[in-house]
Formats: sequence, structure tokens, C-alpha cells
Amino acid sequence: MHRKGGLIVGEVNGKMSSKKFIIKESTRKRCRVFPIDSFDRRQFTPISMELFHFLYEAPAIDFSIFIRVDEEMVEYIKATELSKELLKHIWLASIKDDAEVEICVQSADHAKFTRVIDSVRDLKIKRLIEREPALDTKTLISFVNLSGASQMILRGGINEDATRKVAAAASFMVSNLMDNNFAIATLSRMIQIDPSLYDHSAAVAMFSGIMGKQAYQGKLSQKNAETLAQCGLYHDAGKACIPHAVLNKPGAFTPEEFEIMKSHAILGYKVISKSINEGASIEKIVAEVALQHHERFSGKGYPYGKKGRLEENTENGIHPFARIVAIADSYSALLMERVYKPALPAEEALRLLEINSLEHFDPVFYNPFVAALKKSLNLYEEKKQSLVGNIYVVEKGDNVAQKIIAKKQSKSHKEDESLSKLSLDVHIHDEDCDHQPHGEKKLGA
Ligand SMILES: [Fe+2]
Ligand SMILES: [Fe+2]
Repeated sequence: MHRKGGLIVGEVNGKMSSKKFIIKESTRKRCRVFPIDSFDRRQFTPISMELFHFLYEAPAIDFSIFIRVDEEMVEYIKATELSKELLKHIWLASIKDDAEVEICVQSADHAKFTRVIDSVRDLKIKRLIEREPALDTKTLISFVNLSGASQMILRGGINEDATRKVAAAASFMVSNLMDNNFAIATLSRMIQIDPSLYDHSAAVAMFSGIMGKQAYQGKLSQKNAETLAQCGLYHDAGKACIPHAVLNKPGAFTPEEFEIMKSHAILGYKVISKSINEGASIEKIVAEVALQHHERFSGKGYPYGKKGRLEENTENGIHPFARIVAIADSYSALLMERVYKPALPAEEALRLLEINSLEHFDPVFYNPFVAALKKSLNLYEEKKQSLVGNIYVVEKGDNVAQKIIAKKQSKSHKEDESLSKLSLDVHIHDEDCDHQPHGEKKLGA
């Protein structure tokens, strides 16, 4: 496979193939290319495709972007060379099936990378509110905090900086958001407007916190609510240990790959427990929830097939925080844009969630969550309608502009309807991520 001006030529034994990538001579001349063994790899942190795309909107960077091709590392974009064209080359190289390529930054530069991503995210949030003023600003601010923390865990691992950021983001969320009627609807609607802003673990943290508050009717202490939110942020921490090729596979998993993917629950438990043993300030239950978040109320989940409530079955029951996170996890996975489906409207995600709800979820948590979700969506629609014809003040940098919200709300309804029709055809075949083999209907990510 040849790409004009690109990074890579795929050619094996003289035949064109997408299986093997060879670094082009021109790339070797332009860039620093060096061999890398598994030890050296630790000096680099892989970055997700979602965050990589944020770089298209970064005005400048103060770090290099690398791409690993098999056993070689290419310093493909230096700080002074940032361009959309070079970013596109990297993207094209990384999306090929079976490509042993990985986009990375030096671990020492990860904080710089995070800062750039955070500023792009702030910009995107500003634009989001301009486009849809009914979205709740407080929720979005909290979400930005949480998603910064969640990306640190998934990309940089559990280190001191990450645990501090997680604790701060969870605390901010619990202090500012638990009573917010617009939080669930804002998260459910924002993904339709800009799917690139959505962060699964951040959303799971928020939905879990809100669910915990409802279920315990305000009797959940601030500390426990923060721990529950942290359970959401860390629940997929084990995915940092899953090979890139499996984690980002665009097609269906083979049964073997699916087993590897499922191992993220046990791996998450191990990495979190290891961090706790080494002194990280994380509650033990956070590791337990990472282990149990794919267990199902009926006993048909994994890794151990635990069943029912821990309160009633101390041997084999599921911890209440894991039962809450399981619901949040499944709902969030349905909302998300995936390679095989668009981001689903909240109503459609809920309809699909209902299908196996009796088997999968504890009604003590599930029923109030659904009621709160519906209430939040209704209040949100009312707010949207009330804004029609109002003058809305939009801050654009240092300038303050005014814009009149016209009748576009009714157009949004139509868009929602057509999306809903489209998503009726979506076949949910997920357990963990997109690619469960044989199309079993399970939910969660
Ligand atoms: Fe998940
Ligand atoms: Fe998961």
C-alpha cells in the first residue's frame, strides 16, 4: 500500500500488503528513527486515537510526537513541525488493520501533552455551549475535570499525579453536581453534538455518583460518594494493559481476542491493588469494583460469575458499588460513538439498556436511575424550549457576543428523530467494547 507523501509503505516480499509496514526512505531521512526494545518502550506513553485527534486543533505543541513501527521508533513530528498534513500521515498509518504501530509521546512529556489536550478540550466545551446553550455549564466543567483524570489513568498509568487528579476531580464533582437535575441529560445530549468530547470513564464516574446519591437518599457520605465516583474513573484501568492491537481493533474480536479483552477486569484489580500496596491513596473497594464491574446481577457476567447482592450473599454476591458502576458503564457504552455505531440518542440507549436490564442489573439501583434519566431529559427539553427567542450571551475570547436562539430547537428534535430511526438498526454486540464475537447481546465497556 503506497501513500503519497505519507509515512509508510506496506510491501512484503515484493507484493503489496497491508499486513507489514516499512518506514519510507524519505521518512528515515527527515526524521530521527531508532530501534526500541520492550525496556525502552517504557520511556514512551501511547496516546489514544480520540486524544490524538484533539491535536488537529492545537495551535502549537511543546513536545514531539512519535510513532512506533514494530521495533523502531520514529520521531515523526517535532514541536516546531506541527501540521495537519503530518498528523494525517500518522493517522493513516495507525488505522490499518494488523498494523503494529502505536502513536506515542515521551513519558517525560506526557504532562505537556495533557496540558495541550486540556486546552483544546476547554475550547471545544466553549463551542459546545455556543451551539447548545441548554447544556449545563457546571456539568461540563466537572466533566472536563473528570475526563482529564480518566485519560491520565488510561494513558499514563496510576501514578501520584493521576491519583491526585482523580481525587480532586471526584471531590469537585460530588461537591458541585450531585443535586444537579441537568447533569444526566447534559451528558446524554452533549455526545450527540460533539462525540469527540465524550469520555467513557468520566461519564461512568458521574452517572455512578448520581445513582449512588439517589439510591442512598442522601445518606451516602461525601467521602463514600467520592469513592464511588473514583470507582467509575478507575473501572477500566486494566485496559491500559491490553495490547493496543486488541484494544483498538476496528472489527469483531476472535474468541481469543475477546478473552484478552475480558482480562481487563482482573488486570485492573491487579494494577490498582499494586498501587495501593505501594502507598497510593486509593480505597481498596476501587480495585474490587474494577474486578466486578462486568459481573451481572443474574450471575452471567465475568470474571467469576458472581450473582446478586453482596449484602445477601457474602460469599458470591456483587458489591453495591460494582452494581452501580455496571449500570453506568452499560448506559455510557450505548451512548458512545463506536466503530460500528454512531453515538446513540439517550432515548435509544435507554431502550437498548432495558432489553436485558432484569438479568443484568439490580433494580434497587436501576429503576431510580431510569426515572432520574427520564426526569432529567424532560427538564432539559423544557429548558431548551424556554431559551427559544431569548438573547444568549456568548463569550468569545475577550469579546462578548450576543446571539438570539431562534427556532432551531424544533430542528434539533427532527435531528433526534432521524438519529433514533437510524439507531434502531444498530446491532449491539458488545460486552466489553465493540467487538464481541458471535454477536452475543451483552452490554458494558
Ligand atoms: Fe467501561
Ligand atoms: Fe470494562
